Amino acid sequence: MNSQLINSKVMNNVLLHPKSQAKELTDWLHGNGGAGLEKALSATHDIIPVIQEAGLRGLGGSGFPSYKKWQFVAEQSGNPDKYLICNGNEDEPGTFKDVFLLSNSPNQVIEGALITALATNINNIVFYINPEQKTSLESIRSAVEQWQASEFFTRVEDKLAQPLNIRVMASSGHYIGGEETAAIESVEGNFPFPRGKPPYPAVSGVHGCPTLINNVETLANVPHILKNGAKWYQDLGCGESYGTKIYCLSGDVLNPGLYELPMGTPLSELIYTYGNGMLLEKKLKAVFTGGVSSTILTPQDIDVPLDFDSVQQRGSSLGTGAMIVVSEGTGIVKRVTEYVNFYAHSSCGQCPPCKTGTFYISQLLNKIDTGQAKGADLDSLINLCKILPGSGRCHLLDGAIKIVDSSLHHFEHEYKSSLSI
Ligand SMILES: Cc1cc2nc3c(=O)[nH]c(=O)nc-3n(C[C@H](O)[C@H](O)[C@H](O)COP(=O)(O)O)c2cc1C
Ligand code: SF4
Repeated sequence: MNSQLINSKVMNNVLLHPKSQAKELTDWLHGNGGAGLEKALSATHDIIPVIQEAGLRGLGGSGFPSYKKWQFVAEQSGNPDKYLICNGNEDEPGTFKDVFLLSNSPNQVIEGALITALATNINNIVFYINPEQKTSLESIRSAVEQWQASEFFTRVEDKLAQPLNIRVMASSGHYIGGEETAAIESVEGNFPFPRGKPPYPAVSGVHGCPTLINNVETLANVPHILKNGAKWYQDLGCGESYGTKIYCLSGDVLNPGLYELPMGTPLSELIYTYGNGMLLEKKLKAVFTGGVSSTILTPQDIDVPLDFDSVQQRGSSLGTGAMIVVSEGTGIVKRVTEYVNFYAHSSCGQCPPCKTGTFYISQLLNKIDTGQAKGADLDSLINLCKILPGSGRCHLLDGAIKIVDSSLHHFEHEYKSSLSI
């Protein structure tokens, strides 16, 4: 992964700060590292309250308050084994932040995982990495070995009063393998079929043991919060939004890349200040927000602060922080067709409405996009968007429906003009 993806204009970044880009443990400890773990070791019971006060939320898409999941897992005492899965599956179109963090700054992710294990009394950590990302795998493997040989590691095991097992594994490479219960199946050596909930992973996950699943970016924030305090983290954001967010800016902008900005930075600033504006000075048409499993934003939302709650108030979701920018002149039907083809291909097939629904929607879209569809096909598409949501075991089906539904809402005229009759 090219380090030019990082924007140098951003002054207050943390995870993408040059000092955080340390592949060797000694470099990390000489720069930003170690102080957070040191504090965690000296006051283990303070870790969860600090994370709670900081307001850290899951940065893998859900935005769920991290301390709540940690607290659930910490409270589970009936099983001698507990697992932490660091979710680095990252296979959603437009999302490319975790691969960067794992490849270039594995130590902040590992230190975050060690602090999390201390807070929750976890004795098994699994780094679960997309197999296509060879550099991430190599980088995290090498850094884990260095941590295991360090004095810090012995002190963590002493504090846990048991051995700490760390495993670095390649996921199956399926998009669905990033869903939390699918990741648990993978770690057990099975095909990543999502499980029904409850039981929730915090109660029964890997081999029936309490399991915590956190995204790479979420864990990478942890050492910095412990080191600098909750107030410092809160103040990094804009207004009521805390911390920073790594936005993955791609599509029709002059400067695509990774931008770590205050949580709550307006979309306009991301596109026009950091992204340097639209390619060929074209007009903005739409933004596929938070990956491709959410409602599309349009120019009327250009002022939206990019944080979980503000984006949700516009009917969309911040998701992974991916922003795929589309300019005037781009066919929305074609673009949505490409994404739904991806979903149809990615469905694990367990739930008939998802397996047949994504397949059928993808067929309808391909027909509309190639000018072979009639009005009845468009009616079928609209109906499917009404009846399918909520009928899958995991969020994949709902995500696929959301982009079709919102593209119909904003760009129905493009669908109609693609019909053959
Ligand atoms: C289809 C699907 C794919 C997902 N892929 C990922 C992924 O690659 N990485 C990730 O962190 N979360 C992914 N998630 C979200 C996880 O289920 C889970 O919410 C997340 O890992 C929790 O971490 P966080 O609380 O730190 O965000 C996916 C969810 C779904 C429904
Ligand atoms: S909703 Fe789709 S991807 Fe999710 S479990 Fe069901 S079939 Fe699999």
